[in-house]
Amino acid sequence: VGHIDDVQELRKAKTMAIPARFVRDMTERPTMDSAIPSSVVIPVIDMSNLLKGNRDEVLNLAASCEEWGFFQVINHEIDISLLERIEKLSMEFFMLPLEEKKKYPMLPGTVQGYGQAFVLSEDQKLDWCNIETIEEYSREIRKLCKSLLKYIAISLSLKEDNLEEMFGVAVQAVRMNYYPPCPRPDLVLGLSPHSDGSALTVLQQGQGSSVGLQILKNNNWVPVQPMPNALVINIGDTLEVLTNGKYKSVEHRAVTHMEKDRLSIVTFYAPSYETELGPLPELVDETMPCKYRRYSHREYNKHYITNKLQGKKTLEFAK
Ligand code: SIN
Ligand code: FE2
Repeated sequence: VGHIDDVQELRKAKTMAIPARFVRDMTERPTMDSAIPSSVVIPVIDMSNLLKGNRDEVLNLAASCEEWGFFQVINHEIDISLLERIEKLSMEFFMLPLEEKKKYPMLPGTVQGYGQAFVLSEDQKLDWCNIETIEEYSREIRKLCKSLLKYIAISLSLKEDNLEEMFGVAVQAVRMNYYPPCPRPDLVLGLSPHSDGSALTVLQQGQGSSVGLQILKNNNWVPVQPMPNALVINIGDTLEVLTNGKYKSVEHRAVTHMEKDRLSIVTFYAPSYETELGPLPELVDETMPCKYRRYSHREYNKHYITNKLQGKKTLEFAK
């Protein structure tokens, strides 16, 4: 589980020399903190307001999805102790010796296991640790995603169950990322800039982790300051296509920190593979001409996982 392999070993080495395969080209290197507007914060959505039917919160949700593609959700009704347990479990795994983790390799052409890709949570066999916690976590995140989809449909003036019905049995995958401290954060990236292939992504940032997630907003990389117990939600390519570009799948990346490490637990929520995708007819007219073609989620998923992360390039597939 995870996308970083022997980087963890570097943590012990405390070396100043960064192996060449980690050093980014000049144009890709992260800007230093002074260049980043730390006063800019991503929107916060209070789930309890949505559940109460508060119309203003639905408008906030719509604005967040249109202008940011990202928001943090508070009062999400997921037990805080469950968030703590999944975090502890993930850290315990990452702290195992490399030889132990290598017993769960990600095999070529699959997305399960330890290495550089995704892990499916629905039918995966992960026997390295407490499987119940992962299942409970996946169930709770699923509930949250269904609920968010309902309010997203409402915010688009669609029938409230429009998206959920269309998705069928949603495909869900979880990925845990561990970013060790790096002696030269200015030279490397924790995770390359990309947009997500999902419909929705739910991101949990480890308590005490460094600030690492940055999103591209008006050509600036804006850091996402972790809020205690909040979950970060972002719109993926699939919702961008379904909404004909109204809701944005925003490019983001992870940077590293000189002293602190960082953990993130990321759940991708997407329609069933059979689902036919393309802009919803309700969101296409003369003023908003159809921007994307039709394809199945199976096709998109295959395209996504077989391409390297490179900004919003994956979305070209849908054009
Ligand atoms: C991701 O984009 O999948 C993870 C970014 C992060 O670690 O915050
Ligand atoms: Fe992502």
